[in-house]
Amino acid sequence: MVRALPGATVEGLLAQRVAHAVRAAWDVSLTPAQALLRPSQVAGVDFQSNAAMGLAKRLGRPPREVAEGVAAALFADGVLEPPEVSGPGFLNLVLRPAFLAGRLAALAADPRLGVPEAERRERVVVDYSAPNAAKEMQAHHLRSTVLGDAIARLMEFLGHEVVRQNHLGDWGTQMGLLVEHAVETGGGPEPGAMTEFYRAARLRFDGDPEFADRARRRTAELQSGDPDSRRIWRSVMDASVAHLQEVYALLGVGLTPEDVRGESFYQPLLGPLVERLEAAGLAEESDGALCAFPAGFAGRDGAPVPVMLRKRDGGYTYDTTDLAAVQYRVDELKADRSYYVVGAPQQQHFATVFAVAREAGVLPADADFRQVSFGSVLGADGRMLKTRSAGGTVEMLDLLREGVRRAAAMIAERNAGRSTGEETADGIEDIARAVGIGAVKYADLSVDRERDAVFSFDRMLAMDGNTGVYLQYARARMGSVLRRGAAAGVPEGPITADALGEPAERTLALALLGLPGAVLETAETLRPHRLCRQLFEVAQAFSGFWESCPVLGAERPEVRAARLGLCGLSGRALELGLGLLGVEAPERL
Ligand code: ARG
Repeated sequence: MVRALPGATVEGLLAQRVAHAVRAAWDVSLTPAQALLRPSQVAGVDFQSNAAMGLAKRLGRPPREVAEGVAAALFADGVLEPPEVSGPGFLNLVLRPAFLAGRLAALAADPRLGVPEAERRERVVVDYSAPNAAKEMQAHHLRSTVLGDAIARLMEFLGHEVVRQNHLGDWGTQMGLLVEHAVETGGGPEPGAMTEFYRAARLRFDGDPEFADRARRRTAELQSGDPDSRRIWRSVMDASVAHLQEVYALLGVGLTPEDVRGESFYQPLLGPLVERLEAAGLAEESDGALCAFPAGFAGRDGAPVPVMLRKRDGGYTYDTTDLAAVQYRVDELKADRSYYVVGAPQQQHFATVFAVAREAGVLPADADFRQVSFGSVLGADGRMLKTRSAGGTVEMLDLLREGVRRAAAMIAERNAGRSTGEETADGIEDIARAVGIGAVKYADLSVDRERDAVFSFDRMLAMDGNTGVYLQYARARMGSVLRRGAAAGVPEGPITADALGEPAERTLALALLGLPGAVLETAETLRPHRLCRQLFEVAQAFSGFWESCPVLGAERPEVRAARLGLCGLSGRALELGLGLLGVEAPERL
């Protein structure tokens, strides 16, 4: 587990103290989570607890009285100013400047910026991307790719051993079409011509019913092990994977051809697995097919929900393949956990597959296997975003390249007639890529994954708001102040209590101190938008600080140094956070 040590985050420490005070004052035990600690919106108040509201009901006393009892019992020593009660019974908490400065110093001294490593190193299999090789790579595969990559990076940062798995759809009923096209055109795709190859095969399939028939027959031959079909299939798949790598490389996603363990890989395991399920008494004939009906699942009509093990025609299914993948991940990959980053429409599929795997003893009770579900990607028109027909991986590349083009245009426009004396022409392409791709990725990550995301270049490249570019610019500005500071001989000094007197400095300090908690919460919920929100908060707090607190122009040298220290720490926070999300943070823009 990544559970934080109680004192590892400021929120954790305060929650623990509130819980202690509640016990001392009212003899009620609360978990730190029940201490209901929230960052406060009230000026001059850092955190609020509204635990007294719930307690008042339980104790049959007025909430203010309950809150006052807690305030009196709260151990404030060194950490907090004397707590106050406000409104109907809120407990207001204000950190002491010396404590704030001490925590910041600890953060600054830690290369991990206060994020503790997991207590136990586990093996985490992350299943993501997984497009269907014979169909288009759709926007939901992009979302899976981006979310999965961020989750994998985060797990690695926490010290886990991550195994990436690309469960490529390389065996479905459509595979025959690529193979048949290769046979009829006298060989697979030329190197670098996967694009045209997909397009042509698709066009024929959609336009020529006789070809479609031959493709279906080819699928059957391929699946029954015909050596010629198999050999050609191999070469087509190799080309297809190479092409997919182009998308991953442009995205900066750490999936390699070695991570591909497609549906075809599991074929030899399916027969024995089905026998195992039959022997366990879990398989039933149903309409000529063989199914398992996991306990506790009922469809809308109340009927049990089947996991299809074998079709009437003897063929195995997507379900069977995923059962085999569970078995493989447990037995061979030694997974303690497996996260399946797959869209919401497959919720029932995974819930039932995991249930059958548990009933069969394939999946041990303590293994944490779960779907990391996400919503649809909508176009600006509010409808499902579909890449145009044929050869979708290609369309995906086109889409990403358009993002890069737009980023380049935006940067050029922004920089025109405005010189910080730092930009250089070289590297502009790298920067445009970082900005354009970062915008696309951040747009997917910053929306709660359970919700639909809207794909709009205008929105994702907006300079104001919770966007990748906004954070990248903030990070570049922080770096630029540091360089100017260094050039002027101003040291990046300790952030002292004395230098945290301005409200804007305090707000920034709190946003920075919130980072470790945000990272841990993201890991626990597997919801990267939580981390995005924290980074946005840091960037916004920085911009407030920047407007009201002169850094290199500050009068006292210790304040100058401390403020430069805040700039440096802010830059590191954004760099670390964006790095965990897989979004590049260029030094200069
Ligand atoms: N290829 C599937 C699709 O496009 C996603 C595979 C997800 N992973 C899995 N183990 N089923 O819908």
